[in-house]
Amino acid sequence: GKKYIIAPSILSADFARLGEEVNNVLRAGADIIHFDVMDNHYVPNLTIGPMVCKALRDHGITAPIDVHLMVSPVDALIVEFIKAGASHITFHPEATNHIDRSLQLIKNGGCKAGLVFNPATPLDAAKYVMDKLDIILLMSVNPGFGGQAFIPGVLQKAREARKMIDDAGIDCRLMIDGGVNVGNIREIADSGVDMMVAGSAIFKAPRTMVSYKDTIDQMRSE
Ligand code: DX5
Ligand code: ZN
Repeated sequence: GKKYIIAPSILSADFARLGEEVNNVLRAGADIIHFDVMDNHYVPNLTIGPMVCKALRDHGITAPIDVHLMVSPVDALIVEFIKAGASHITFHPEATNHIDRSLQLIKNGGCKAGLVFNPATPLDAAKYVMDKLDIILLMSVNPGFGGQAFIPGVLQKAREARKMIDDAGIDCRLMIDGGVNVGNIREIADSGVDMMVAGSAIFKAPRTMVSYKDTIDQMRSE
């Protein structure tokens, strides 16, 4: 089948053993670590910040870290995550007053930049900044929690986003986040998505490298 990047979301990892979990999922074949940042303001949940990103770097993790900011405002944390070793940073356009400036801040820090669209948010904010986008991330759940069900209407939106990217002729990943599992990943890939976030589908019991590899291998064979 088509090839896609698999980005495990550590939101569903065991935070008490985070370094080990990240190493296990990388040994299991993950391409990139998806790092969910929630501020109890933009979304009704509170997670991890730049210190934890830096701790993973200090622990010897060299894989790309894809920071998904579910915070408002975004600029101060963008600067902190660049210092903390992020490789990719995405934010929700409605969470900043100056979308272009926030994207430029990420690019100036040497990171890949992207916009994240909630299930009901139109793609309009991407239109005039396509040249600055390395990622368009479509939420296929309402942000805030792992383990929610995939919202099927996002597949049509993915086809629209794929067309926007192809028409613009830019090198931009189309990423999806929420409810991705072995059973729906083929259909998602067929809609034009080439980067898959998966949290609960990968970080389920038993919490072992073998179990993570089994799920990732199944995803890749779909
Ligand atoms: C939700 C987060 C997701 C979440 C996905 O707000 O952005 O990255 O961890 O979890 P699953 O794959 O369980 O839906
Ligand atoms: Zn996420």
